Amino acid sequence: MRILSGIQPSGKLHLGNYFGMMQPALQLQERGETFLFIANYHALTTVSDATQLRADTLAVALDFLACGLDPRRTIFFRQSDVPEVTELAWLLSTLTPMGLLERCHSYKDKLTKGLAATHGLFSYPVLMAADILIYQSNLVPVGRDQKQHVEVTRDIAIKFNNQFGPVFTIPEPSIRDEVAVVPGLDGQKMSKSYGNTIELFGDPKETKARIMRIVTDCKPLDAPKDPDTCNIFALYQLFATAEERAALAARYRAGNFGYGHAKKALHDAFEAKFGPLRQRRAELAQNSDYIEEVLRNGAERARAEARKTLRAARHAMGIE
Ligand code: ADP
Ligand code: TRP
Repeated sequence: MRILSGIQPSGKLHLGNYFGMMQPALQLQERGETFLFIANYHALTTVSDATQLRADTLAVALDFLACGLDPRRTIFFRQSDVPEVTELAWLLSTLTPMGLLERCHSYKDKLTKGLAATHGLFSYPVLMAADILIYQSNLVPVGRDQKQHVEVTRDIAIKFNNQFGPVFTIPEPSIRDEVAVVPGLDGQKMSKSYGNTIELFGDPKETKARIMRIVTDCKPLDAPKDPDTCNIFALYQLFATAEERAALAARYRAGNFGYGHAKKALHDAFEAKFGPLRQRRAELAQNSDYIEEVLRNGAERARAEARKTLRAARHAMGIE
């Protein structure tokens, strides 16, 4: 089985990215051949500062390696190091119905947030389809907000195969229900565009201050509290074992347990997990040659696969 996912280097990675996409992708590296890439072509639809894009691309590479990506197992690369994908995107765009793209929520959401309606933003799902199809991927672990893009990919692949012959594997999205949407400090979906994130590798003091700012209701200390409607609990449970989760829920319901205590429990859980990874990340950051070598090596392996699929698609369509 081949597993593939990508992430845009368009800001600092946060707990939503980690639990929604990184952790599932890292766990799946045990189950099959995994391709994971840094979607810098996609990031161009929102990032227009070259220095920033380079820095964020490197930061994402460090984040993944620090969080346990094993480059011997996982083919880890920069999207743009496999330029074949842009050619495939063009081939696919010639059969992608406008209506399919017009229905995409992500495009409409981005316009609502004030992004300019560029052609790149509109055809974003076609490039994503090329990413997925060029590696003949079976499974695509993503957060819920990306599910529609995987469905668009399936539609495009099915149409291509019907029209030109069986070139592409039809992929399936893989979404873990319990972490479908990680809430941010304000209870909305955690997203860098809402300014409500907890970064994985932000400044430790700032991270603590942000945890202390998580929005709660204003029940007094002695009142029993409902863990199931609490943002702090929703985040805590992502780190906790079933027993730890049940224990904290019981303390909420018993009363005399304040939101300050809950925030401390969450901060402790965060540090227990990300403290050691922060250390590892700092060590990796000293060795930029190693990071570059990992990405180049990944690109070489990815490219061999991409070339094969592109050749088959070109041939099926009559380009060669
Ligand atoms: P952001 O919303 O911060 O811009 P991206 O859209 O770049 O994040 O998301 C990158 C990946 O992380 C995607 O697979 C997405 O589904 C996942 N993801 C992002 N935020 C969350 C969240 N709050 N909950 C679950 N998954 C998320
Ligand atoms: N669109 C995805 C996101 O914003 C990133 C991405 C690009 C991707 N190409 C992909 C994810 C292919 C999975 C498969 O999160």
